Amino acid sequence: MSLLDDLEQLRTEALTAFAAAGDAKALESARIKYLGTKGRMKELLGRIGKAPADIKPQAGKLANQIKGELEAAFGEAQARAGKAQAPSGPVGDITEPLPPEKRHTIGKRHPLTRTVDSLVEIFHALGFEVVEGPDVEDQRHNFDDLNIPADHPARDSFDTFFLSGTTDALLRSQTSTVQVRMMETRPPPLRIVAPGRVYRPDAIDATHSSTFHQVEGLYVDRNVSMADLKGTLKLFVCGLFGADTKVRFRPSFFPFTEPSAELDCTCPVCLGRACPVCKQSGWVELGGCGMVDPAVFEAVNRTREDNAYDPSLWSGFAFGFGIERMAMRRHGITDIRRFLENDLRFLRQI
Ligand code: DAH
Repeated sequence: MSLLDDLEQLRTEALTAFAAAGDAKALESARIKYLGTKGRMKELLGRIGKAPADIKPQAGKLANQIKGELEAAFGEAQARAGKAQAPSGPVGDITEPLPPEKRHTIGKRHPLTRTVDSLVEIFHALGFEVVEGPDVEDQRHNFDDLNIPADHPARDSFDTFFLSGTTDALLRSQTSTVQVRMMETRPPPLRIVAPGRVYRPDAIDATHSSTFHQVEGLYVDRNVSMADLKGTLKLFVCGLFGADTKVRFRPSFFPFTEPSAELDCTCPVCLGRACPVCKQSGWVELGGCGMVDPAVFEAVNRTREDNAYDPSLWSGFAFGFGIERMAMRRHGITDIRRFLENDLRFLRQI
């Protein structure tokens, strides 16, 4: 047969094969057979090179035309095979529950985060702004400007982690630092709450941890009184634990407040009837509070040029509560260590 006849035959055979290929695999073997590097087309092109001069141009032209046609036909067949393979309807029953090992576990917010979120929401409703301060502090913010001078015995009750290799850096032992930071940078009036982590080298047991969280509050305005403090805290505690909760102040001492008090509320677990969580007393402690000591305003004024916190014009109240304590009371948790262990069995239970 002549070269031209062979080319025509290749066209017919290959077009038929591409059209007949039922799936991608059959199509690929047809492509290799006709258009592959060792396929029929290649072989015929080779023969054109050696063909007599009189038929060469015609054969070359025909070969190019057929090659183009076959490539186009292959492309179309390939598109058809691809579509045939794509699933046309639902694969299995998509409403069927997955076997346990394939199920995604849905995460939840940590109990501490939930407590912070709730208390932030309550204070927000009372007009307080939420702010934050740094965990790594200096002595001035953690002690001096809070009216705790270096030789003051109260320093002992705020045992502190100092950062080695530095002269003045420490991990804050109380969020009261944020009171100073806020007053340094903003003029009165102020109404802020600052939740955050604090650090103390305590011996660790069911009620003590070397790191825990506090929420600090500060309200500075004209004529702020102890009654404002008690009213605000009563609203807060009722928002967190329920409207029936009662609060009481016990006299206390903090260097940065005068007078100072310790705030208790009726035990949210037994509602004041006495249980192991409140050690049968019916009351639980939430933290400290009091009227801002004028010495703190004066310390802040030393870092401000405008003397904005003039104690004869402004007064304020402050408070600082342990967040773990509140979360423990809310959920009846009896061991503070649970919060840091990340034991999923505990976290799922709450
Ligand atoms: N910073 C105190 C502590 O960690 C708690 C505290 C007491 C904060 C009285 C206050 C306050 O703002 O007024 O023990």
